[in-house]
Amino acid sequence: MSESKLYRVKPEIAASAYIKQPDYQALYRRSVEQPEQFWAEQAEQFLDWSQPWQTVWEYDYPKGHIRWFEGGKLNVSVNCLDRHLAQRGDQVAIIWEGDNPEHDKKITYKALHQQVCQFANVLKVQGVQKGDRVCIYLPMVAEAATVMLACTRIGAVHSVVFGGFSAEALKDRILDADCKVVVCADEGKRGGKTIPIKANVDEAINNCPCVEKVIVIKNSGNPVSWDENRNVWYHEAMAAAPDNCPAEQMDAEDPLFILYTSGSTGKPKGILHTTGGYLLYAAMTHKYVFDYHDGDIYWCTADIGWVTGHSYMIYGPLCNGATTLMFEGVPTYPDAGRFWQVVDKHQVNIFYTAPTAIRALMAQGNDFVTRSNRSSLRILGSVGEPINPEAWEWYYHVVGEGRCPIMDTWWQTETGGILITPLPGVTALKPGSATLPFFGIQPDIMDGNGNLMSGEATGILVIGKPWPGQARTIYGDHQRFVDTYFKAYPGYYFAGDGARRDQDGYYWITGRVDDVINVSGHRLGTAEVESALVLHELVAEAAVVGYPHDIKGQGIYAYVTLNAGVPPTEALRQELLQLVRKEIGAIATPDVIQWATGLPKTRSGKIMRRILRKVAADELDNLGDTSTLADPSVVEEIIKNHAKQ
Ligand code: WTA
Repeated sequence: MSESKLYRVKPEIAASAYIKQPDYQALYRRSVEQPEQFWAEQAEQFLDWSQPWQTVWEYDYPKGHIRWFEGGKLNVSVNCLDRHLAQRGDQVAIIWEGDNPEHDKKITYKALHQQVCQFANVLKVQGVQKGDRVCIYLPMVAEAATVMLACTRIGAVHSVVFGGFSAEALKDRILDADCKVVVCADEGKRGGKTIPIKANVDEAINNCPCVEKVIVIKNSGNPVSWDENRNVWYHEAMAAAPDNCPAEQMDAEDPLFILYTSGSTGKPKGILHTTGGYLLYAAMTHKYVFDYHDGDIYWCTADIGWVTGHSYMIYGPLCNGATTLMFEGVPTYPDAGRFWQVVDKHQVNIFYTAPTAIRALMAQGNDFVTRSNRSSLRILGSVGEPINPEAWEWYYHVVGEGRCPIMDTWWQTETGGILITPLPGVTALKPGSATLPFFGIQPDIMDGNGNLMSGEATGILVIGKPWPGQARTIYGDHQRFVDTYFKAYPGYYFAGDGARRDQDGYYWITGRVDDVINVSGHRLGTAEVESALVLHELVAEAAVVGYPHDIKGQGIYAYVTLNAGVPPTEALRQELLQLVRKEIGAIATPDVIQWATGLPKTRSGKIMRRILRKVAADELDNLGDTSTLADPSVVEEIIKNHAKQ
């Protein structure tokens, strides 16, 4: 790879930054050399505890055993709300911007606290107790934050399911977490269209005996079907609820939330995060990575259905007493200038989005950007997938006018918060590199045989030593947690990504090394899409791979083998696309379905995905060793049909 440009730290940014270049090295060194002292200090500085912890950390990676601040007690909603009331009760906590540009709301810390207490009482009335699971299937309504925080107030464990997932996918997640209550809306609004949220819930819970109640937020106001025994209107229950609700004192290691994410198998993993360590890590990274100062308006464009929405729209910012903006819509509605109109309207200082959005907007031309002012912007962020240098440069020069450093933050659902990232006042930037580890994080690169590589290297990214925000288990399947993350490289956390470390020690994430793909920043397992496709009675076999896509980062390429004698038709292709939408959701719809009379397999019957990936990516002259294939002629046919796509 050619040496990239270096963008030095801007003096005006460094001048006001919490962490400055001369202090960084020493602080980082201390964070990894004296982790107990370091993290104890951070936990005292960032959080209010009702009882101090006894041990800072304890871990045994081979057993997947990770504990932070054991013995300590605290409540997340108290840290995000109550403790701010005296000083900033009238400060805006959440700016909510509607899909319709004429709709917005501002919610102060005082108002949010009151609503959270009320909804916590509603949950109690509906029978929710500490430790019970509550599924949240909501579009980006302002109440989403209230519902999440209300769960934390009474110690209920929320499981937010992205509103774009289908009824079928929702059902699987409700059952896996054994949720007692579902909170949803009548409908969602996105890009001027409505989304059938309540209808999906009705369909899902027909097969979910665990669900006792469904609490429905009136959003679009359109009629929805109603079951008097099981359904409760949010606004009616809130009107009857007192606004005084004592906070449950939780152990630092009590579960906070479950969030499903994709892995190498067809079954999504319920990643479990706990209370003290997660909140500390979300708050600390939010403050230092975005250099959040009092009075800043901060906007993370992620949906609450993903971990970025949890850590960097809700928990990190609110724990720090920030003003966080929540956007209901999409970047291209009413037109491709919407992000920048919102930036101007609310005078946003810090803006955090995904490369896929940047690439989509870049393709619409500069006018949509330059017709806005954007002078309020100070810091930009990127997350979810590798950002290609072209998109980085456009974001930097056109959106940020060369004023705003870009924080390219690498992390995962499992890591709870950002692990590799620049800091605004410290790190010189290289377009496309997530740069250096955050405090306490010790990344390493391994070769395929599990040997640590030193200096400049390309290989598998692993992380030594735990950090407070790390996931603690996979809900209901601890063995899978151990097997997935701690088996392949003993003593290390295996992240599932590949990376290169350059001569300056900068990390460049090269993408997933497992069967997970990143489509428009949405993480999907190829096995999930395959499982959906093979449900069709005419499908014999399917293999799904990712391929480079200009806007989405990766597209979904499906090779499908039909039962003998079944003719491949356009109608059947459409049926398969519909089937995937029904089973998972529109985000998983294949971009390409290629019919194949056979798939390349080893003599032991294993599909050689490496070859399928190369064909999908058009890398035909570089297929590698095909001599172990049971039937090499299959590949020729696949290449021939690929050319017709
Ligand atoms: C990818 C999202 C390159 C990576 C927070 C990771 C990135 C997966 C970056 C996790 C980045 C995330 N550069 N790749 N800055 N950020 N990724 O769990 O492949 O939805 O493993 O968490 O996204 O996706 P997840």
